[in-house]
Amino acid sequence: TTVTLTIDPAFRVGPVRRRTFGAFVEHLGRCVYTGIHDPEHPSADADGFRGDVIALTKELGVSTVRYPGGNFVSGYRWEDGIGPRDQRPRRLDLAWHSTDPNLVGVDEFLRWSQASGTEPMMAVNLGTRGVQEALDLLEYCNVRGGTALSDLRRANGAPDPYDIRMWCLGNEMDGPWQIGHKTAHEYGRLAAETARAMRMIDPDLTLVACGSSGVPIPTFGQWEQTVLSETYEHVDLISAHAYYAEEDGDLGSFLASAVDMDHFIDSVTAVADGVRAHKKVAKRIHISFDEWNVWYQKRAESVPPSGDDWPVAPVLLEDRYNVADAVVVGNLLISLLRHTDRVHSASLAQLVNVIAPIMTEPGGRIWRQTTFHPFAQASQHAVGDVLQVAIEAPTYETAKHGDAPLVDAVATRDPETGAVALFAVNRSLTETVTLEVDTRSMPGLRVLGATSLSNPDHTWSATADDDTSVLPRANDTAALDGGRLTVQVPPVSWNVVRLG
Ligand code: AHR
Repeated sequence: TTVTLTIDPAFRVGPVRRRTFGAFVEHLGRCVYTGIHDPEHPSADADGFRGDVIALTKELGVSTVRYPGGNFVSGYRWEDGIGPRDQRPRRLDLAWHSTDPNLVGVDEFLRWSQASGTEPMMAVNLGTRGVQEALDLLEYCNVRGGTALSDLRRANGAPDPYDIRMWCLGNEMDGPWQIGHKTAHEYGRLAAETARAMRMIDPDLTLVACGSSGVPIPTFGQWEQTVLSETYEHVDLISAHAYYAEEDGDLGSFLASAVDMDHFIDSVTAVADGVRAHKKVAKRIHISFDEWNVWYQKRAESVPPSGDDWPVAPVLLEDRYNVADAVVVGNLLISLLRHTDRVHSASLAQLVNVIAPIMTEPGGRIWRQTTFHPFAQASQHAVGDVLQVAIEAPTYETAKHGDAPLVDAVATRDPETGAVALFAVNRSLTETVTLEVDTRSMPGLRVLGATSLSNPDHTWSATADDDTSVLPRANDTAALDGGRLTVQVPPVSWNVVRLG
């Protein structure tokens, strides 16, 4: 099978945004405790943060990190996590039926952000709390000094403000599972008033209103319409969350998950622009896709403890990802990149242990899941402008997403160097596909490198003992001649071709 692609600098969508390569750290399972934080680990720093996790976070190429939740934030009292550690309260975490010892709080997380070279994206609790507590946290974090809470931060060891730019106004407030779940109207009013007051402290914050927790939720679309009608003037972004999984052995549908993500983004964009038209304003609302990943929600590890069991850092949501999962993660990145005109921020959920590319043993080894690689490669090689790729590909029928193209792709081009990166997935379960790529609009390019991530057994998963048997490997079939690139891409594969 041959698939024809065309890459042309004229097909520019917008800039590659570093914030597309964000991740997420929630107080959930072993993401914080025995994940980023593990004082018993040999690589731990003075705060108890694992140096090996920080090193892999850098290697992954993570930009922003959303914190501290997720469902957790809707019951969180941020004051519990500041001051002397031995005086901090242990609290019930109702979202995950766990106990939080509050050994990591805002100050520690901000030090972790600095150590990992990431930008913090802070969420405020609009489940059990409201405007005042959001203002208090903002004052604590961003006011230089001379007020009660800014001086408290200074006394807690941070003389300079943290200057956090991105703030999430709650989390998934559309979900009936959320603590303090609200109707769209109730949430929209609260988000608007919280945003309006936060801007009285700092007008230049980037504020994210909660959009839908997924396309399947019955309020999808209507929720965005109502929330944006209330908040339009006060916020910059609306969130989107999506998780995908292979169900009932339907690999074909699963590999086409990005079709659904495209639909999600296009739908939220349409609703946001509809509100804009109605309001007759120039401002556009963009999307923060601040939870996305593969997540096997039906597996036992996704079910929180119950009854009298309120453990600290239980094993929760510790999905083991295979090669097909990595191809889907790569394809979801393709979708996010090609919508760079409207998706201005995104967070892979999550970073460590909890549906994560990085796994740790408590006090012990660390390893990369298969999904680590497409993220790291895209973060490293997507530079400059995002280019829409024209694709002529046969389609295949899927149960969930209709007819899906066999190949999906996006490209980036650095306008300064002319270097091009092509990111492509082959969704075929059986066939190697030849990509024929027309690059005649960019004369003088040569192949700098090509890699493919695939395996004859697409169910292969990395473990602490072996995370290197399946890696992106050099693809020697890539050849460029007379402005035509050809490369053969194996079935169920994630591929990167770099030209320069
Ligand atoms: O990322 C796991 C959970 O998924 C988050 O806590 C919640 O926001 C979403 O439902």
